[in-house]
Amino acid sequence: MEIVVSGIRSTGNLHLGNYYGAIQNFVKMQDNYNCFFFIADLHSLTTHPTPENLHGNVKQVLVEYLAAGIDPERATIYIQSDVPEVTELYLYLNMNAYMGELERSTSFKDKVRDNPENVNAGLLTYPVLMAADIIIHKATKVPVGKDQEQHLEMSRNFANRFNRLYNNQYFPEPYAFNFSDNLVKIPGLDGKGKMGKSEGEGNAVFLSDSPEVIRKKVMRAVTDGGPNIENQEKPIEIQNLFDIMKVVSSTDTLIHFENLYNSCQIRYGDLKKQLAEDIIGATSDIRERIKDIADDAAYLRKVANLGAEKARESAGKTIREVREIIGFRSF
Ligand code: TRP
Repeated sequence: MEIVVSGIRSTGNLHLGNYYGAIQNFVKMQDNYNCFFFIADLHSLTTHPTPENLHGNVKQVLVEYLAAGIDPERATIYIQSDVPEVTELYLYLNMNAYMGELERSTSFKDKVRDNPENVNAGLLTYPVLMAADIIIHKATKVPVGKDQEQHLEMSRNFANRFNRLYNNQYFPEPYAFNFSDNLVKIPGLDGKGKMGKSEGEGNAVFLSDSPEVIRKKVMRAVTDGGPNIENQEKPIEIQNLFDIMKVVSSTDTLIHFENLYNSCQIRYGDLKKQLAEDIIGATSDIRERIKDIADDAAYLRKVANLGAEKARESAGKTIREVREIIGFRSF
């Protein structure tokens, strides 16, 4: 069976963007692939969380993976820091990762621009750790959002470089994967780019948000004065709301509001009310399960232990072989 790896950084509650961009693909893949889904808590250290926040965020993501339908019996669900083999491979790959290519990565440049006071080496080598996550299980498919494509390209470079250096074909090439033709991007509610945890209050709808909070956030979403020419192109903030509607609402609802927009009769208040209700509907099952699972400490412990065991078995095999290839041999 083909091997799949993906993870989400544990920086807190998951939002609609994580759900539609990544997790729905995880859930669909778990029957037909050998899947490893993990919680990237080592990656989250780049922003220096407190111990309480670190632990709370890991728990939240674990709960939400399970609530969204990832099945610990079919897929391997684990916490990245439970698998120290990953950090060992990260060290080896770092020896063949070059400053120039790391500094050129768009995610690194974005982070330097956004947080110039915290340009640490972990941030620079973030893509190396991500490559280690993926190739430690020899994965070929990586379900991720569009923003991760460059990281996947870097993972392929690191894997190929290792193979070339040691003159073998040990690591296969991993590629980004999505069931639809285009990698999904869910926009935020602030009239700008994507939905994201770090984009500021009100931009993201979280899977754990109550219906009241969802209504409030959607009603505050940025809109314009409305169309005054028939069939005119939508400004970005309006297109964003229609893009979210495309994934949570029925086709009839979408067409209804498209028609109102195109005939300049749309009232954004009505559109937002409908959108809020459809988001609430699309997330209601998950919201209920989040509450149940979060209270079940024994179940969470069982899932984490089982996942760590399965992930370490796979990662341990790779590390033993990699050590042999590199030349760490016993006397
Ligand atoms: N960089 C990913 C993100 O920000 C998280 C991640 C870390 C990841 N390691 C990975 C995703 C390995 C896929 C595979 O969402």
